[in-house]
Amino acid sequence: MLKPRASFFAAASGVRADRRFHGSALYFFSRPASGRPTLPKRYGSSYSRSMQIHILDHPLVEHKLTVLRDKNTPSNIFRELVSELVTLEAYEATRNLDVVDKQIETPIATMTGKHIASPRPMVVPILRAGLGMLDGMTKLLPTAEVGFLGMKRDEKTLDIITYANRLPEDLTGRQVFLLDPMLATGGTTVAATHYLAERGAKDITSINILAAPEGLKRVEETLDPSIDFKVVVCAVDDHLDEHGYIVPGLGDAGDRLYGLID
Ligand code: URA
Repeated sequence: MLKPRASFFAAASGVRADRRFHGSALYFFSRPASGRPTLPKRYGSSYSRSMQIHILDHPLVEHKLTVLRDKNTPSNIFRELVSELVTLEAYEATRNLDVVDKQIETPIATMTGKHIASPRPMVVPILRAGLGMLDGMTKLLPTAEVGFLGMKRDEKTLDIITYANRLPEDLTGRQVFLLDPMLATGGTTVAATHYLAERGAKDITSINILAAPEGLKRVEETLDPSIDFKVVVCAVDDHLDEHGYIVPGLGDAGDRLYGLID
């Protein structure tokens, strides 16, 4: 059954629906209250500002995610599954894509259809693991422009270091889709979003395979509320461990996609 996200929150967490989600264009395919809540209970009312989070609650996504998480799944299958999941996420993430009228002629009549507006949307994978999501995204949005952002986490301090960027200087009016498989501490998402916002982007959607409640909370508390920021994710997991890994998670997404470098 298709339900607005406010109802999903009510069903999943047992808390009263938060009014800030009313009017949202994002919807969930909701499960009954007896099903496993995708969003932990403590999450339902902890946000200080409105941030739209869209969780793909769907049996096919759950199935693919389970194979993806399995430590015995080899890299080639892992890459294939990431690509498939991202294409499914892209469908929801682009629900509010800007379109303009376009007049065409069918073999039968003239009609006004819709066409993706200019400037074209921008897809930004965060290197290196975000690259594994690019193919699944551009499959659905082949006319998007692609930029790159190289960010990595210092494993000791957990600080985010930017080591590369290939992006237009001016992102004003662009809808930007940020690709990173794991929204863990939220540090990369916050840093990348600030980077994009400094260049004028005001409409940013983070597409992740998994997220941790701690990271989502940090993103919501840190980001400038004037940025229209959304998260589309296949599942929100339980917590982060002391090394900043998502639990139960899927391990190191970069290593699972591309193998260990060392
Ligand atoms: N990055 C990963 O690749 N995995 C995690 O669990 C957290 C961050």
